[in-house]
Amino acid sequence: ARGQIVGCPFSGGQPKLGVDQGPIHLVNAGLIDQLKSLGWKVNFDGHHQFEEVNAQQDPPIGVLKNPRLVSKVCKAVADVVGSHVGRGELPVTIGGDHSLAMGTISGTLSHHPDACVIWIDAHADLNTVETTTSGNIHGMPVSFLLGLNKTPIPEYAWVEPRLTPDRIAYIGLRDVDAGEKRLLKENGIKAFSMHEVDKYGIGAVVEKALDAVNPKRDRPIHLSFDVDALDPSVAPSTGTPVRGGLTFREGHYICEAVHETGLLVAFDIMEVNPSLADADAAKATVAVGCSLVRSALGETLL
Ligand code: ARG
Ligand code: MN
Ligand code: MN
Ligand code: MN
Repeated sequence: ARGQIVGCPFSGGQPKLGVDQGPIHLVNAGLIDQLKSLGWKVNFDGHHQFEEVNAQQDPPIGVLKNPRLVSKVCKAVADVVGSHVGRGELPVTIGGDHSLAMGTISGTLSHHPDACVIWIDAHADLNTVETTTSGNIHGMPVSFLLGLNKTPIPEYAWVEPRLTPDRIAYIGLRDVDAGEKRLLKENGIKAFSMHEVDKYGIGAVVEKALDAVNPKRDRPIHLSFDVDALDPSVAPSTGTPVRGGLTFREGHYICEAVHETGLLVAFDIMEVNPSLADADAAKATVAVGCSLVRSALGETLL
């Protein structure tokens, strides 16, 4: 099988510097050789060089920050991911902040319009132009993919709202804004918060999530993993850590179980920010990022 590393050194969807260094650290930690030892043919033609958008030329649109830059970068990522998926290669997109998933999932849906999304995160990243209080677009990609924004923004007209609420399920949520809670309910989106993980156990939660979005197990799966889904004791180097998260094993179990379906067509690992917390913490976060990718691509314990 062929995999493609899509390195995205990008931080424009949120205000903290350093998350753009995440992909460089994961690759330098040996990710590509690790995936090759799993039997994958892995291609990596360097990290993406995103065109600069001058800050003066990118004032906020409403409250949205860096709106033109984020749009441009996500469009480029959508094209790249779409072309790899179209060739039957598994794109592994390494962020960078989670706004990038607007691009990766658009790319997947351009070739697999029936694909479903499993979104692993402490956050729902479902804010609309109307509900966001931060204006950080990494808290909004899902609303664009679902077409929930009531105020059309011409800069984002390229995002085709191909995702439907019955084809996305969340696992790991524990910091969901009031407006997002309403959107989850109104749209009947399946969300397994840490409460459900505690109640049913991770094995049952993954099964329920797959049953919800992929009842016949015939839809391609896009797995988007925000490293802040993990507990900060496991993945401390990330911009918006929230206590009470997934254990090391729960995170890996999700990746293993999705791999076992044989339906994975695209994987994202996002929000690793090696400049936050101390050097040991950064090293641990980068290492766990690499091992989540390996699990999604078939590494087993036995
Ligand atoms: N809900 C908050 C916001 O909209 C936090 C989002 C955090 N997202 C992330 N990808 N880490 O600003
Ligand atoms: Mn490429
Ligand atoms: Mn998050
Ligand atoms: Mn996220």
